Order: sequence, then structure tokens, then C-alpha cells
Amino acid sequence: MQWRIAARPTGRELRADDYTRDDRPLDAPLAEGELRVRVLMLSCDPAQKGWMENAGGYAAPTEIGDIMPAGGIGQVIESAAPGFAPGDLIQGSLGWAEEMIVSATGKRVVPPEPDAPRLNLGLLGSSGLTAYFGLTRIGEPRAGDTLVVNGAAGAVGSIVGQLGKIAGCRVIGIAGGETKCRWLTQELGFDHAIDYKTEKVKPRIRELAPRGIDVLWDNVGGDMLDDLMARIAHKARVVICGGIARYQQQGTPPGPGNYFNIVFKSARMEGFLLSDFTSDHDLGRERLRAWLAEGRIKQRDEVVDGLENAPETLMRLFRGDNVGKLLIKVAEPT
Ligand SMILES: NC(=O)c1ccc[n+]([C@@H]2O[C@H](COP(=O)([O-])OP(=O)(O)OC[C@H]3O[C@@H](n4cnc5c(N)ncnc54)[C@H](OP(=O)(O)O)[C@@H]3O)[C@@H](O)[C@H]2O)c1
Repeated sequence: MQWRIAARPTGRELRADDYTRDDRPLDAPLAEGELRVRVLMLSCDPAQKGWMENAGGYAAPTEIGDIMPAGGIGQVIESAAPGFAPGDLIQGSLGWAEEMIVSATGKRVVPPEPDAPRLNLGLLGSSGLTAYFGLTRIGEPRAGDTLVVNGAAGAVGSIVGQLGKIAGCRVIGIAGGETKCRWLTQELGFDHAIDYKTEKVKPRIRELAPRGIDVLWDNVGGDMLDDLMARIAHKARVVICGGIARYQQQGTPPGPGNYFNIVFKSARMEGFLLSDFTSDHDLGRERLRAWLAEGRIKQRDEVVDGLENAPETLMRLFRGDNVGKLLIKVAEPT
């Protein structure tokens, strides 16, 4: 079974009928350099909506009728690529399918260990690595800095805040709802959390960060970014990771009115893609794994069972109906 893209959700919310279910088996022979893979577990990422729209310059273009792309872990059934053998667990670009034929290019063999799919798609996958490289290489946190992160209870944001604590920062998270905010302060060790659905972000930040924001991690964009830009400190680093507030909007929203604080505060604003750091991913995984083993980072995920639930599960990210990483389990390894 596969889910195929049926419509481009540009400028609107995702809908269940943006996909068609296809129950035909994929029985084509392998070409040189290809793998036949049983899909085990899939990552849910806001970027997938952009891939359906062909919105980003970095992802491979999609066509209507393509299998819906997703990062994931699979198990090799048959290999026509050197370095990959039947039984290997592989990680990389897969899709919403039980079985796929994929190019081996860009795939990595995942060392076998208990719970390998969850670990490698969560903390050691794109969410943890995005947090690690964006923060250490661009945010450059120092002990005593005030770090503010929005989308704080999500997959990336929850790791950013914890890495900020490891670096000795005062960490303020912004998230939607009391339950998420309580989790950030009581379980993850954030110093403060602001519920942007019931509190006004700008006055709360003035109260909680009277000397301004040294590291501003933005997952959201829009008005929230503008409010936070009003409070950056001298030499602040503004890390633009994502802009989920705009992913469902029509056209290009206006930029942050307070961007000129970049000049007044001699600050820096920089965007990045995780792929900028591909050659260092192993190093990032090593660091994150060590902090996990030492109990200095907690990873939280929710595994939704069944590929049939993929369309509904992806939509949850845009409703804020997730805490930490959202994953879809397709099959068990054999
Ligand atoms: N640059 C890169 O290479 C890279 C890599 C990975 C991810 N990203 C970006 O990082 C961001 C976080 O990704 P993630 O995978 O960790 O997702 P996530 O935060 O786990 O899930 C999305 C969260 O965004 C919040 N949200 C949804 N709509 C919103 C809106 N209109 N305004 C404010 N908040 C909203 C919701 O939390 P609340 O309940 O708090 O609203 C929701 O739980 C995304 O923007 C993603 O595109 C970038």
C-alpha cells in the first residue's frame, strides 16, 4: 500500500483528500544502485507540506501521483547497491509506503540496537541534529545568555531548550497550552515557559528577559518573530530555523517590522538547513547520544501505529497536537 500526492496544499491547510491510497504492489525489477526496502518507521515533519507544494529550493521536486515523501527507516529486502545487504536497516528519504524501490544515494546504514528506528528518527535524527547544529554553530550560546525558543514543546524546540541549559543559558520556551508549558519547566528544566495562546508574548518577555534576548531561536515566524525581535540584546544571534506560522498562508507575509533592531543591537540573523552540516552529522549524533546516556537530555516521542493513519497524523503538527516528535510505525524489523 502507498499514499500518493493528489493535490498541492499551497496557501491552505492540509486535507485528507490531498492523498490517494494505492493498493497495487510495487514489483518492478531493481536498477543498478537501487534498494528494495520494507518501510519500518516514518518521521512527521512540517517541511513535508512544503515538499508537496514544491515550495522549497532544497527538496527534490514532487509530482502529483508521486508516493508522498517522508524521512524514515527501512529494512533492505533486496540490494543492487554496493555497501547495502538484505536485512540492513537504512535511514534516509523514503515515503508513505509499505515497500519502496529507492536509490541508495543519501541512505545510511543504521547500526542495529534496541529501538533503533525511534532513536534514529528522533533525537539522533533530523530534529535532534537540527537543534544541535543550528544552536552550536549559529546560535553560539554562552553561559549566562538568555535563550528564547518558540515551538518549544515540538521535536526541534524541546531539544534546543535542553541544549541551551547544557550550555548554561537561562531558557525561556514559548508553546501553545498549559500542559506543554508545564512539561517544559517541570520535566525539561526550562527556566520559564510562556503559553502564547493565553499570554501576551511581548510584555512577558520584557518581564522575564529584562536585559534582552541573546539567542533567539525561531521556528514560527510571523507576528511572534516580530514581537521577539523587539527584545533582542546587543550582539544577539537570531537563528531562523522554520516559519510554521506561514506554512498554511497564501502568498508571502510581510517581514518582521522590528528587523532594524539587527542594526541598533549590532545583532546577527541567520537561517540554515540541516543539510549544511551533512559532513558533521556523525559528530552531532555522538554528542547527542552521550547527553542522552548521561540523562542530560530527555527525548519524547509519540508513535502512531499504521500507515493508514499517515494523512491525519501529519495534519496534527499544524494543529499543535503533538508534544516532542511524532512518528508513524509501519512495520517491525524482521
Ligand atoms: N532548517 C532546518 O533544516 C529545519 C529542520 C527541521 C525542522 N525545521 C523547522 O523547525 C520547525 C519545528 O519543526 P518540528 O519538526 O520540531 O515541528 P514541531 O515543533 O514538533 O511541530 C510543529 C509545532 O508548531 C507549532 N505551531 C503550529 N502552527 C503554529 C502557528 N501557526 N503558530 C505558532 N506555532 C505553531 C505547534 O506547537 P504549539 O502548540 O506550540 O503551537 C506544533 O506542535 C518547523 O518550522 C520546521 O519547518 C527546520
